[in-house]
Amino acid sequence: MEKAIRTKVRDLFRLAPGREVLAKGWVRTKRGNKNVSFIALNDGSTINNIQIVADVAKFDEDLLKRITTGACIAVTGDLVESLGGGQAVEIQAKSIEIYGEADPNTYPLQKKGHTLEFLRTIAHLRPRTNTFGAVLRIRHAMAFAIHKYFNDKGFVYLHTPVITASDCEGAGEMFQVTTLDLNNPPRLENGQIDYSQDFFGRQTSLTVSGQLEGELGAMALGEIYTFGPTFRAENSNTPRHLAEFWMIEPEMAFYEIEDNMDLAEDFIKSLVRYALDNCMDDLKFLNDMFDKELISRLESVIGTDFVRLTYTEGIRILEASGEKFEFPVSWGVDLQSEHERYLVEKHFGRPVIMTDYPKDIKAFYMKQNDDGKTVRGMDVLFPKIGEIIGGSERESSLEKLEARIRELGMSHETLEWYLDTRRFGSAPHSGFGLGFERLLLFVTGMGNIRDVIPFPRTPKNAEF
Ligand code: 4AD
Ligand code: MG
Repeated sequence: MEKAIRTKVRDLFRLAPGREVLAKGWVRTKRGNKNVSFIALNDGSTINNIQIVADVAKFDEDLLKRITTGACIAVTGDLVESLGGGQAVEIQAKSIEIYGEADPNTYPLQKKGHTLEFLRTIAHLRPRTNTFGAVLRIRHAMAFAIHKYFNDKGFVYLHTPVITASDCEGAGEMFQVTTLDLNNPPRLENGQIDYSQDFFGRQTSLTVSGQLEGELGAMALGEIYTFGPTFRAENSNTPRHLAEFWMIEPEMAFYEIEDNMDLAEDFIKSLVRYALDNCMDDLKFLNDMFDKELISRLESVIGTDFVRLTYTEGIRILEASGEKFEFPVSWGVDLQSEHERYLVEKHFGRPVIMTDYPKDIKAFYMKQNDDGKTVRGMDVLFPKIGEIIGGSERESSLEKLEARIRELGMSHETLEWYLDTRRFGSAPHSGFGLGFERLLLFVTGMGNIRDVIPFPRTPKNAEF
């Protein structure tokens, strides 16, 4: 007999009934009675399960017994209109092959309704749940939409290095990369470690940002973006911080801060629109399960103009709010998530782009304003998230940039190559970084960043 070709579950729902099909996947549930078994089968292609109907008389009793939650099976049968509610079609099984059993006594995903905390301890199996299937499909769709967005605009995808000798954000939160023997490292006469004997002949770390190399790209290709993993050794145990996260960093020649804000706003809106247009089954599931306002929040963001205000104006609003914050507010402090969320959720009720921050709380590369106090930085602040994007117009003057590097006591030597962009054909330019997982928190409505990345890395946690 001719071997049927496997059809993905997603595609089964698009077929007209009345043909033989082959489906493969993992059993979500099995129920039934003496005469008939109903198996809900999922293969990860959609949130929806295909129902398999097996006539007990036609199958070996032992075979049906071994089909339990978590088992992997292949089913050949007729795709027929479903008489029960809930699904348009189902498969009337003719033959079933078991690829792999799942012992009901030890398979951890027996019942529905496990907590997200428990699922984090079995991150290697949680993609088999409805929730993580939905989140991971949306994660994929957003990655695709990001590449599509920039490709359509003529941006070049630039691959920036993961291992680097410079600290872009200057916060010293870097994971060191070394092949030296940590129990017995080579030392200089003064007792310091001799990094000239390390793998790269110098001290290196995992990158916190691809921006500096991104700027080199923009000064040659015009408009580039990076999209890769970045690393921060900050000891932040919050629902919004990861030690390893993915960042999208566009960098554009000839953009001033206003152009940068326009791009950031259009970019996020277009990603949210893509999710609404392409991920509705998964969004509906998450909306029903976790966050009844998810879809309406997504729709509202694409329909509103983001507020634009300066840091100084923002501080004035916060000071006048009468609100009791955990961290007190005054001009010069770095804004905490509670402040950002007050502005976005309570005061304005929509996303905010804040600009012109005090130079002392921002990185060295930001364009210096004439007031001598502030820089042309911009953060995009979102409901439920706080900061989702950080960016700026860049300082294009070699003199001013060198002065700032000296002022901050940074190593001039590891930045010589970067300063060449200002020495040779410098130009106004801008860019920003979107935290991919922060975007996903917003788009999926999940409350904890550990639940929007397959294998989260946080302080004291690098399992799987
Ligand atoms: O504001 P940040 O530190 O900016 C930069 O790294 C710049 N070099 C970007 C640029 O201008 N090209 O980080 C940018 C974004 C933040 O707004 C946030 O969304 C995300 O990256 N982010 C984190 N996401 C998860 N976990 C962390 N620990 C994060 N730190 C930053
Ligand atoms: Mg930031």
